[in-house]
Amino acid sequence: MIFSTPISTQLAKKIASAAGTTSGHAEFRSFADGERYVRVLSNVRGRSVVALGSTPPPAENWIDLLFLIRALKENGARRVTAVLPYLGYGRGDHVEKKGEMIALRLVANLLESAGASRVIVVDPHAAEISRFFRVPASAVSILDGLLSKIEAGADLLTVAPDRGAAERAGRAARILGTNQVVVFKKIRPRPNVVRLLPGKVIRGTKSAIIVDDMIDTGGTVVAAIRRLRASGVRNITVAATHGILSRDAAKKIRLAGAASVIVSDTLPVTESQKRLLKIVGTAEAIVRVL
Ligand code: R5P
Repeated sequence: MIFSTPISTQLAKKIASAAGTTSGHAEFRSFADGERYVRVLSNVRGRSVVALGSTPPPAENWIDLLFLIRALKENGARRVTAVLPYLGYGRGDHVEKKGEMIALRLVANLLESAGASRVIVVDPHAAEISRFFRVPASAVSILDGLLSKIEAGADLLTVAPDRGAAERAGRAARILGTNQVVVFKKIRPRPNVVRLLPGKVIRGTKSAIIVDDMIDTGGTVVAAIRRLRASGVRNITVAATHGILSRDAAKKIRLAGAASVIVSDTLPVTESQKRLLKIVGTAEAIVRVL
């Protein structure tokens, strides 16, 4: 039986149908001051259930998932598998400056305290997600699906827009059967501001695919597109699992010159964003690991 928080309802229906299982019912409401209320309506006593929920801001998405897991446990569920199509605070996986803390470790602890007995995350920022959890935790990669519609010509260049994307870009190149990979060096002088450091000159390549785990403001991808275009690359595709798409990120990326932007359905997208994107489904990949 699959339960979902409100943000992931559409994906939960697709997963339930692909898995041939039933959807569980739960009620989610807000009090006048904004606090959340969650009530499980289906009988879960003694059952193994799934609690599905992406957790981007606002933090209420986290509250919904944690409350759902706890409500399932307090109503007698034997095991709760938490599935996070998008893991919010996943980028908080390391300390960069003195005084910071590892946000991912805290949200991992919260999932465990709420009652999750297993955790599944789609394409997390941290490669080894299991080291943040004490319960079994694993990642589902949907890179194959994201790249399934790409025509890999011989001169296709696979681009990691920063070092963190290097491993993903390497895997993408193997899937696409190309061997040209370039890794850009990115710095962030301020939050949400991106600068690429000078790097190897790209010659003779006409097509490129930029691969990343997520698009937030679009700054990273736009910087990579500009660098590629300055090197004469004209046919540019962007493939990223999670379309957070803050502000007008999708529009910015298309205006910068991306011919196509592929994201997945781990996060909902608006109708106007849909017109600028290709959306790949993740339900089948998630069902395979449940
Ligand atoms: C960073 O480590 C991530 O992998 C993404 O590159 C980054 O979060 C994208 O953010 P933005 O779209 O705001 O540049």
